Amino acid sequence: MDPWKTGNLTSHAPPVLAPRGALAFIGTPLTTEACPPAHVPMNPPTSLRRQFASDNYSGICPEAWQAMEEANHGHSRSYGDDPWTTRASDLLRDLFETDCEVFFVFNGTSANSLSLASCCQSYHSILCHELAHVETDECGAPEYFSNGTKILTLPGANGKILPEAIARTVQKRTDIHFPKPRALSLTQATELGTVYSPDELGVLQEQTARFSLKTHMDGARFANAVASLGVAPAEITWKRGVDVLCFGGTKNGMAIGETVLFFNRPMAAEFEYRCKQAGQLASKMRFLSAPWVGLLKDGAWLRHARHANAMAALLEQRLTDIPGIRILFPRQANAVFAELPQPLLAAMHQRGWIFYTFIGAGGCRFMCGWDTQPDDVEALAADLRSLSGS
Ligand SMILES: Cc1ncc(COP(=O)(O)O)c(C=O)c1O
Repeated sequence: MDPWKTGNLTSHAPPVLAPRGALAFIGTPLTTEACPPAHVPMNPPTSLRRQFASDNYSGICPEAWQAMEEANHGHSRSYGDDPWTTRASDLLRDLFETDCEVFFVFNGTSANSLSLASCCQSYHSILCHELAHVETDECGAPEYFSNGTKILTLPGANGKILPEAIARTVQKRTDIHFPKPRALSLTQATELGTVYSPDELGVLQEQTARFSLKTHMDGARFANAVASLGVAPAEITWKRGVDVLCFGGTKNGMAIGETVLFFNRPMAAEFEYRCKQAGQLASKMRFLSAPWVGLLKDGAWLRHARHANAMAALLEQRLTDIPGIRILFPRQANAVFAELPQPLLAAMHQRGWIFYTFIGAGGCRFMCGWDTQPDDVEALAADLRSLSGS
């Protein structure tokens, strides 16, 4: 069933299982319980037990929180002209071992859309995997912010673009009536929890060089990819032809925020205007940049990603032991995709477990985050085992 048409949007009953956070609120009538008047103290929020729906269910990690707290003293200059933003930008340049242009935006959709718009004119096209977030989950924002650039989708097993598909798509039409391919968008780690190796990226780089395509990388889970591969970030970005990376902070333990790193510096020209026009220029920018300082200064970003990946590895191990459950894709980062028998899936939802069944190519996605604990994994696995009757 299409999760967007479950009835939550029209039903006045609170959804048992909202497909996405935002829809949970759309589906819930705006009563005084949902929106208390400003003078009424909020009841302590009913917090969920730690779930496996998304790595954005988690709270803020201590390092990011502490940096926000430290930034919250006195006044500071606005719109990025502050010491936190300078420090975070420098830490990012150190991490990537290059003098890239750095921007801080609120979320992944804007990071992707605005950076892709910088790659293209409106008459161009962007090639990406058919399951890419920019194609399936950004409400047309990449096309919107680039004034009509067309997205062309490519196939490929396990969420990774098949290199030959690039040549096929670029060469299929070269006439003036078809939008000219200009950029390749990769997701690292992919939407299916797999990771492109440096060699795989090298093969894609040959294709982008051959067809003069710019390379954009959606790195909402870039940290998990680095943790998985055990390589320096440079080895899977600018050294493999990536022009612009959207490096995700939210899923790595921040409240909000992604950075856009232009390794191809001329492409960053006037990017701040794009950000401003799109409502992505934070006036109190230090609160977007300070958490990066917290995460980067002593390697917390990588620790959290390694931890999330380790929890997913543990979960995969547990699921493998349960009859009737089939792992769908190689687990290489912090997600495990599995096929569950329908009655088991329903029973798990009934028991209050929240996980998505509509992402990627289907199956159930179990996502681990920086705060997932071994006990959470064991609790999920125990319920799966007992409800499966094994
Ligand atoms: C692969 C990928 N890219 C980008 C994003 C960022 O999206 P958002 O605009 O919700 O921050 C997400 C979030 O789920 C994602 O999974």
